[in-house]
Amino acid sequence: MSIEVRPCADVEEYGAGLSAIWQFFGAEPDAEGLERFQRVLPLDRMHAAFEEGAVVGGGGAFVFSMSVPGGSLPCYGVTVVGVQPTHRRRGVLTRLMRAQLDDARERGEPIAALWASEAPIYGRFGFGVASLCGDLELARERTAFHAPYARVAQARFVERDEALERFPAVYDRVAAETPGMLGRSRDWWEVRVLLDPEARREGGGPHRRVLIELDDGEAAYAIYRHHPKWEDASAVSSIQVIEALGTSPAATSEIWRYLLDMDWTAWIKAQLLPIDHPLQLLLAEPRRMRLRLSDGLWVRLVDVGAALSARSYQGEGRLVLEVSDSFCPWNEGRWELADGSARRTDADSELRLGVSELGSAYLGGFGFADLERAGRLEELTPGAVARADTLFRTNRKPWCPEIF
Ligand SMILES: CC(C)(COP(=O)(O)OP(=O)(O)OC[C@H]1O[C@@H](n2cnc3c(N)ncnc32)[C@H](O)[C@@H]1OP(=O)(O)O)[C@@H](O)C(=O)NCCC(=O)NCCS
Repeated sequence: MSIEVRPCADVEEYGAGLSAIWQFFGAEPDAEGLERFQRVLPLDRMHAAFEEGAVVGGGGAFVFSMSVPGGSLPCYGVTVVGVQPTHRRRGVLTRLMRAQLDDARERGEPIAALWASEAPIYGRFGFGVASLCGDLELARERTAFHAPYARVAQARFVERDEALERFPAVYDRVAAETPGMLGRSRDWWEVRVLLDPEARREGGGPHRRVLIELDDGEAAYAIYRHHPKWEDASAVSSIQVIEALGTSPAATSEIWRYLLDMDWTAWIKAQLLPIDHPLQLLLAEPRRMRLRLSDGLWVRLVDVGAALSARSYQGEGRLVLEVSDSFCPWNEGRWELADGSARRTDADSELRLGVSELGSAYLGGFGFADLERAGRLEELTPGAVARADTLFRTNRKPWCPEIF
């Protein structure tokens, strides 16, 4: 089998490349869908795999800026990866990954990130699980806060157009403080976040959009939908929270109190919450959240030196890491981290680890001690793990509120 992988040259190839994954969602690309998708994924960022001229797989990469501790940096957002079932397990994905990671390097995007449909797929390509997230299912009668709470702000509904103007101010403030969050373009808001096609409602109603303003303007918003249900003449409905963000502790309490106090609702459900969500400490009975954990973002350092130099560190410590990376060998070797930047060194290694383990630690999602306990790194100098944990410590767990 001779497989060629290259960027799509026209919309026909683009559609065929997307078909490889969309078929698994039970969807077929149509002209409108393809036009819309190109607003966030331009043609030249969509690779297709060809066998004798026919497309047998595809993989794309959004252009993101991703928040990292102390800043943000360009991120190659791997998405819509699929291989035709007729060609599975013959190395097509491996060839696509080769082309994509080379592309990321050429474009100067020092990290790549993705959500994995199945966890075993991407470790071999140097991606490490970088954040955890949780699905919440909270019974309405168990939503009391730990202390009496009096609402201080008025929530109000907004139309889609007003949401488009005002929600980003809230989102951007939260994103600036939260590693793993993605910068959102206006197109992204329009075609990803605020688009509400019937096919995505899973039996629920349309998006409800609510905004809370506090003294200094937009402070919190929520996007949610109702899933109405009645049993024995009583409402046992649920609401599905799609996204709820607040820029301050007061704003976060306000937006969640609004959601938790919804009439006719037996259950409040939300997906992909950060594991250090303030609700854990706000609620009187946090265990009633029934948080179900799963892996969130997977991160791959495409350029170890640039990526390590782009984030901030705690304290003045220095550290020598020995990184192995068989899929992107340009990263292999010893890196000295000092004064906030990383350079190649001949100094003795203090920690030895793979690039996917470094991806797990990069945003602060997992500590070096966590990796050591799992047998996923080697401490060569006593104390190096503790020093690395001090350097990489973050105030917040990394979080990406959306699957891409
Ligand atoms: C997942 C998928 C892209 C893999 O493509 P593929 O061309 O079959 O993968 P490759 O042949 O290049 O596999 C490379 C290696 O990964 C392993 N692998 C691939 N998919 C795997 C999976 N889902 N689970 C476990 N291992 C997997 C292969 O066994 C192979 O291992 P080996 O080198 O030890 O033999 C393809 O099966 C697919 O399209 N699945 C449905 C859609 C999907 O899940 N896409 C990913 C979205 S994030």
